[in-house]
Amino acid sequence: MNVTVTRVFPFLLIVLGIFLWIGYSITELTGGGRKASAAVDISPEGGEAIYWGKGRCFTCHSVGGQGSAVRGPNHGQFGEKFPFPMGARAEKRAKERSEKLGSNFSAVDYIVESLASPGAYVVQGYKNEMAVVYAPPISLSLKEIKAVVAYLMSLGGDLDMEAIDTAPSEMTNSFYSKISAAAAAGGGDPTAGAVVYEDNCTECHTLNGEGGEIGPDLTGISGKGLKFISESILQPAKSLTKGFETYVLIDKEGRQSIGLKTRDEAGEVDITKANGDVVTVAKADTKSLKVDDTKSVMPDDLSEGLTVKDYQDILSYLMLQKPKAEQ
Ligand code: HEC
Ligand code: HEC
Repeated sequence: MNVTVTRVFPFLLIVLGIFLWIGYSITELTGGGRKASAAVDISPEGGEAIYWGKGRCFTCHSVGGQGSAVRGPNHGQFGEKFPFPMGARAEKRAKERSEKLGSNFSAVDYIVESLASPGAYVVQGYKNEMAVVYAPPISLSLKEIKAVVAYLMSLGGDLDMEAIDTAPSEMTNSFYSKISAAAAAGGGDPTAGAVVYEDNCTECHTLNGEGGEIGPDLTGISGKGLKFISESILQPAKSLTKGFETYVLIDKEGRQSIGLKTRDEAGEVDITKANGDVVTVAKADTKSLKVDDTKSVMPDDLSEGLTVKDYQDILSYLMLQKPKAEQ
C-alpha cells in the first residue's frame, strides 16, 4: 500500500465507525433501539451522581470540603475565597451580567453558559481550562447536563426546575441547541471546529457573509443534514451541488483547464480553478467543453489533513449553522 492509502484507510474506518455509532444513537434517541443505559434523572440527586461520576467534574472541582481538586473553582462555600456556594454565586454573577447587558440574564443562564461555552466568562484567578463536557472523552448528554445544572443550582441557589428543564429562557435554550447539535455530530467540539473550518474551508466557502466564493455559500448548511454534510466532505464528487459542476475545457492547442464555469457570454467562457485562478477562453478557440461528474472542484483528499477529532469538530460546527428561520 502506498503512503496515502495507509493514512486514509484507518481514517475512513474510524469515520465509518462514527457513522454506525451516530446511526445507533439516533435509533436510541427515537426509541427505535433497545435501551442502553439507565435514564438520567433531571434532579439535583441525578446531577450529583454525574458530578462525582461520569461528568468527572470532581477531577478539577471540589464542593466545600468534599473532594480535593483545586484546578477549577470550589463549587461550595469554602474559606474566604469562596464565600458563596455555586447556586448563590451564579445569582450574584447573573445580576452583574444583567446590569452590564441591560437585559435579563439568569443564574441558570450563567451556569449553562459555563458548561456550553466555558470560554465566555473565565473566573478570575483561573485559566480557561474548563472541560468541554459535551465533547469526548466526557460526552455528557443534554439531559445529564440539565441534571448537573440542577445540582449546582441546589447548592445555595433558588432551584427552579422550569427554568432548567421545561421552560428554559431563550438564552439557555440557545445553549441547549448548541449542546444537542454537538452531541448529535458525534460529540465534536464546535469551538475547535470553527478553527479547523477557518484553516481548511474558508478560502472556498462563504459562511455568514465571510470567506471565498469558489464553492457554495454554507450559511444555514445544517438544514441539509448531517449525512449530506459528512458526505460532502469525505466524497465531494458523490453529490455535486447544482451549479457547481466541474468543467473540463480543452482549447485548440490542447491545453486543458478544469474548474467551475463561472461565466459564459459574448463568445467567451471563464473557468475558475480550485485555487481561484480564472482562465478566459474564446469559444472560437475551444475544442471541447464538457462536464466531468466524477470529479469535484472541492478536493477529495481534505480528510487526509484532518484528524478524526478535527472532522467531528467541524461537523458539529457546521451542524450549528442553522437556517435563518430556525434561529
Ligand atoms: C479539566 C478540569 C475541569 C473539569 C473536568 C471541569 N471543570 Fe469546570 N471549571 C474548570 C476551570 C479551570 C474553571 C474556571 C475557568 C472558567 O471559568 O472557565 C471552571 C469553571 C466552572 C464553572 C464556573 C464556576 C464559577 O465560579 O463561576 C462551573 C459552573 C463549572 N466549571 C462546572 C463544571 C461541571 C459541572 C463539570 C463536570 C460536568 C466541570 N466543571 C468539569 C475546570 C474544569
Ligand atoms: C478548493 C475549494 C474548496 C475547499 C478548500 C473546500 N470546498 Fe467544499 N465545496 C467546494 C465546491 C466547488 C463545492 C461544490 C461542488 C460539490 O458539491 O462538490 C463544495 C461543496 C461543499 C459542500 C456542499 C454544499 C451544498 O450546499 O451543497 C459542503 C458541505 C462543503 N463543500 C464543505 C466543505 C468543508 C467543511 C471544507 C473544509 C474541510 C471544504 N468544503 C473545503 C470547494 C471547496
